[in-house]
Amino acid sequence: MLPPETGLDGWLRYAALPDECAGLRTRYSTIISHMDSQSSPIFTAARELQFGLSKILSQNVSLETKLLGTAASSSIVVGTIKTFSSTGRDIHETLSLKEDGYCLVCKDGKATEIIGQNERGALYGAFELLRLLSQNHPLPEMRISNPSAPIRWVNQWDNLDGSIERGYAGPSIFFADGYVLDDLTRVQQYARLLASVGLNGLIVNNVNSNYNLLKPINMQGLARIADIMRPWGVRIGISLNFDTPKGLGGLQTSDPLDPDVISWWEDITSELYRHVSDMLGYLIKANSEGQPGPLTYGRTLADGANMFARALQPHGDGVVVYRAFVYNHHLDESDWKNDRANAAVEYFDGLDTQFEDNVIIQIKYGPIDFQIREPPSPLLAHLRKTPIILELQVTQEYLGQQDHVVYLPPLWKTIFDFDLHIDGQQSLVRDVVSGQRFNWSKSGYAAVVNVGNDLTWLGSHLAMANLYAYGLCTWDPQQSEVDIIQGWAQLTFGLYKTIANTITNIFMTSWPTYEDYSGNLGIQTLCDIVTHCHYGPCPAAQDGNGWGQWTRADAHSIGMDRTVATGTGNAGQYPQVVAERFECIDTTPDELLLWFHHVPYTHRLKSGKTVIQHFYDAHYSGACVAQTFPQQWEALRGLIDDDRFDHVAFRLRYQAGHALVWRDSINNFYYAKCGIKDEHHRVGNHAWRIEAEDMTLEGYEVVPVTPFEAASGGKAIATMPGADIGTAQCTVAFPSGIYDIAINYYDHLGGRSQYQIFLNDILIGAWKGDLEDKLSHDFSDRMDGHSATRVTFNKVDVKKGDSLTIVGRPDGSELAPIDYISLLPQGIVD
Ligand code: GCU
Repeated sequence: MLPPETGLDGWLRYAALPDECAGLRTRYSTIISHMDSQSSPIFTAARELQFGLSKILSQNVSLETKLLGTAASSSIVVGTIKTFSSTGRDIHETLSLKEDGYCLVCKDGKATEIIGQNERGALYGAFELLRLLSQNHPLPEMRISNPSAPIRWVNQWDNLDGSIERGYAGPSIFFADGYVLDDLTRVQQYARLLASVGLNGLIVNNVNSNYNLLKPINMQGLARIADIMRPWGVRIGISLNFDTPKGLGGLQTSDPLDPDVISWWEDITSELYRHVSDMLGYLIKANSEGQPGPLTYGRTLADGANMFARALQPHGDGVVVYRAFVYNHHLDESDWKNDRANAAVEYFDGLDTQFEDNVIIQIKYGPIDFQIREPPSPLLAHLRKTPIILELQVTQEYLGQQDHVVYLPPLWKTIFDFDLHIDGQQSLVRDVVSGQRFNWSKSGYAAVVNVGNDLTWLGSHLAMANLYAYGLCTWDPQQSEVDIIQGWAQLTFGLYKTIANTITNIFMTSWPTYEDYSGNLGIQTLCDIVTHCHYGPCPAAQDGNGWGQWTRADAHSIGMDRTVATGTGNAGQYPQVVAERFECIDTTPDELLLWFHHVPYTHRLKSGKTVIQHFYDAHYSGACVAQTFPQQWEALRGLIDDDRFDHVAFRLRYQAGHALVWRDSINNFYYAKCGIKDEHHRVGNHAWRIEAEDMTLEGYEVVPVTPFEAASGGKAIATMPGADIGTAQCTVAFPSGIYDIAINYYDHLGGRSQYQIFLNDILIGAWKGDLEDKLSHDFSDRMDGHSATRVTFNKVDVKKGDSLTIVGRPDGSELAPIDYISLLPQGIVD
């Protein structure tokens, strides 16, 4: 049996190569580091190589630090262009290296050389060599590799109290109780993971920032974080609260043009640089979702950004990253011209030339908020002089919160590869972001990652693929997402072909699958946004509030009219070629139809289906594909350690069940709204279901569920107040046969109910409502689309006339709630 693994090393496990492969590999005897300082990424590279080789090839290799140009063929020499040149070596092969790039030379009979453009580059080259060795890939005679963009950062939304906004893997590895943690071991391990995929910066705290971060004791803590990450080439920056001068400094105002405010920020910035001499700069969320900002004081966004920019200028290359996520979340839905998607372009209109040179605008990939499908933000086409950072999410806020597998690169690629046609010229988003299109020297990528102190980092082993892929995509956005996932699977789980093939199959279908059951045709992820949970289905939550994530669904039609002719004018914010395409229904791709157009449910798509039939079909096919994931995963049993196998298997089974909750909720909701029947008679017809409310109840009562669509038939059962046990019994009316027995119930906060199911008097299964201990997502405290879930007991021999009884024992406020039982003949999913 394989030894258990926790996931802590992620893809850096350096599993030993099988003997037959290891024997064929070059023998290394010495690693020569051109630097001896512990804080130098070159030295880190050398030590990582020493560690990696001892594990992958079981070779004990010595480490020497000296400036040597030419070494024995069994050596690996690590340095930079500068250090190699200083030994007198002519290294013309490095001429084309860009910042952070590297040249890896593995010529037969010669020393292996890793030549970084800078020290970080040397470290990235070392990780590349280790990746190749771990996967038993051939080594290149010479590989020159350059990143696509200089900025490749991650954002953490960690709060000082140790919680993480939109984090699904336990508390912060940086903060607790208002301070930076004493033990930063996990921070060092995180820096190693980031560096291994070429990521070079980290914003440590939440964009909804707390000004106590700038207290002296926390500045010392930031210095400790920076010191720990520096050897890995990861620099840190911080998010600021715009009102810190008032809140912490005791000033009367935080007006960015007020001289006292300006000098307050200058002083605090100098103080920060005394602690963190290479700080990246500041990330600013202002005038957004209730946060203060320059508009609060009657100033422009540029006034606000420039105040920070000027405070940073005396301190090296620090930048202000100003978020474009500025919008009014009290929009009036009754005005059909209102549109949150217009906000970024409107707020930044006319400011392109107004920013100081060290201001960068950070723009979320879509105009709304990390939805399952969005067009690129139109603001990406509006800035020529001011560089940008494209903001992605690795944390799966709207995409299943790490409890549904969703491999993100295919989604990201719809943005990277989109041609904005700026000024009539080809303008792929990835070329704008890299800085190539407008000759920016500093631009790139940021992703909200939100690792926590769970040993898996993101709460799920599979979710780590997205962090790995994020690093590789920012290095080269044209890299094949299939190659990325295969590499990750091998490094994370081992070299058996079945592992890479199975994971690739699941992953490459995962995003379209999630889209199929969570929000089609550009309608957005139809999750509950009103309780801020952003997890389970609740389509009604999109409308009827000021957040502006509207679907405008009524009894006849659905979608946002964003055309110039009759709608909000959002299509017109894109350059002409793109604007014309989105303005017209015929040329808008089906997958974005409802993003740009308000149409009847009976509107025919290019596929020939009506909108409503597409909804029904997509939800059935998406949920159906999700059922195959646990079966596919079975192929890995015995090929990987049981701990990680079981952890993933449990989540895939959970996902399969929750996909059905999604399917039924969305389909029930729209069927109730428009009354148009499913051509295939599935919606509302569940031949193999027994509703809990139709069973004979004792100690249980029938209760309504809100939203209604989160319960089969709109109702469920819960134990009566004061009861400590409830039973629900029925007599099986289906033909005798072998059935999978599925029970849909609700598992919410407030208690851990216990359940048993009996066939006649024989116990056939038992379970506990304890998903809050087992899963990562934000739970709700009631019966709804977040807490609805399913447990299945396979292959039960059932006879017509048998008695089926569920016994529920409530706990706390969780009243052992049950929605329905399905008896599924083999091969039927319902
Ligand atoms: C989303 C998210 C918030 C976050 C905000 C932001 O709305 O739900 O938690 O603060 O984005 O990006 O600022």
